[in-house]
Amino acid sequence: MVSKGAAMGSASAKEGWSSRSAFILAAVGAAVGLGNIWRFPTLAGENGGGAFVLVYVAFVALLGLPLVLAEIATGRIGQTDAVGSVRDVARRSNASTGWSITATLGTIGAFLILSFYSVVAGWVLYYAGVMGGELVSAIGRGDPLGGAFAGENNEQIQSRLGALLGNWPLLLGLHAAFMGVTWFVVSRGVHSGIEKAATILMPIFFFLLIGITIYGAFAGNFSEATAFLFTADFSKLTPQVINEALGQALFSLSLGVAGLITYGSYIKQSGGLGGTAATIALADTGVALLAGLMIFPIVFGASLDPAGGPTLVFQALPVAFQTMPGGALIGFLFFLLIFVAALTSSVSLLEVPTAWGKGELKWSRHTSATIFGLGAFGLGVFALLGYNVLSDVRPLGFWGIFENADILDTIDGFTGKIMLPVGVMILSIFIGWKADRKMMQAATGLSGGMFKLWRFLIAWLCPIAVGLVLLFGLFPGLLG
Ligand code: PHE
Repeated sequence: MVSKGAAMGSASAKEGWSSRSAFILAAVGAAVGLGNIWRFPTLAGENGGGAFVLVYVAFVALLGLPLVLAEIATGRIGQTDAVGSVRDVARRSNASTGWSITATLGTIGAFLILSFYSVVAGWVLYYAGVMGGELVSAIGRGDPLGGAFAGENNEQIQSRLGALLGNWPLLLGLHAAFMGVTWFVVSRGVHSGIEKAATILMPIFFFLLIGITIYGAFAGNFSEATAFLFTADFSKLTPQVINEALGQALFSLSLGVAGLITYGSYIKQSGGLGGTAATIALADTGVALLAGLMIFPIVFGASLDPAGGPTLVFQALPVAFQTMPGGALIGFLFFLLIFVAALTSSVSLLEVPTAWGKGELKWSRHTSATIFGLGAFGLGVFALLGYNVLSDVRPLGFWGIFENADILDTIDGFTGKIMLPVGVMILSIFIGWKADRKMMQAATGLSGGMFKLWRFLIAWLCPIAVGLVLLFGLFPGLLG
């Protein structure tokens, strides 16, 4: 599939993945991140476990998987940045190029998400450092398999998060460090940056994840955790829970931010994409469930509250790492795991606007990555000041659903609850109703029956389901 994209852009040859498996690793790396290991357990815990998990998995299967395929196929056809790719699909289908608004929204969304994603990843970096220090002191005591935080009480352990959030120069340094690494990988390019990072980091990630899960199964309370995650209490299913589950499914699969369109545009290989899309969705969901099975046994084993909210990972788990055997080591590996996952995701977030600057503005990769990296860094500074200097600021305080949201929560909520769903809704209407069918079938490589099923899900189920969730999520009053 050669396109005119090859003739565009800088003097360098068109960038691309070196193999299908390199693409899959990079895409799985993009999907698996803080969303799986931090956001999923938080939301599952807050929303009562099983019922939320069930709805989330249903959304992944019925909406997420078809959308993953739609985004990758769109990028593959366009062979350029996300906005250009959607425009290309529109042109080839004799549809209005205005449909590329879905990718414009997505590109802005990726930029916005990157700004706060890097701040949270900075916390992860901090805790990896803290746990590393604990490990060193455990080794110093001659007890490398000892617990962390010897002699501290729970309050002292948990107070670390508050102290961190109050210390803006430290937050700034961590944010800068994480964004700097992200920028470094992205400016090295698709092949020697993104692909290389994914092929080194993802195996480490899976090794750590499975290791800690097996450990938790023995050392924690595994049966209570499985009961919590896999027994559905349908009385807990409110419209709010359903809205959260959809938002989480989209966020976790990196949908609606044009990320998979962008990554899809680097596919040069031929062959169907159905299996590839299924692998990405399965791996992402599998990691979220495994993360639940890693975290909740530890939470229940230490009698902590599963509904602890966003601080669950940062406050509750360190308490558990104090008493559990090997706690200092496991704690260190745990935060290292989250760091690795976050990095391959932040790279994909920066790649979206970077590719846009290259494709639409004809900037070099380096210039584009630097400008958008600095921009997202700057916006992130406001997000981190929202915990200290600007803690009274409620950017969308006039709007009921964002009334109490600080700067970071506002960016998170606005992108997750509004921009991503709106983006995928426009995309699904475009792909389902406007895009040339023959071209889409060739790009997806689906056989007749599967293609029909896919198109049905994209054309009907996605817009209607996402539209309803948006409506009731944004206007809770409609339900009385
Ligand atoms: N999917 C990533 C996660 O779960 C977050 C992300 C969203 C990454 C959108 C890229 C694009 O952490």
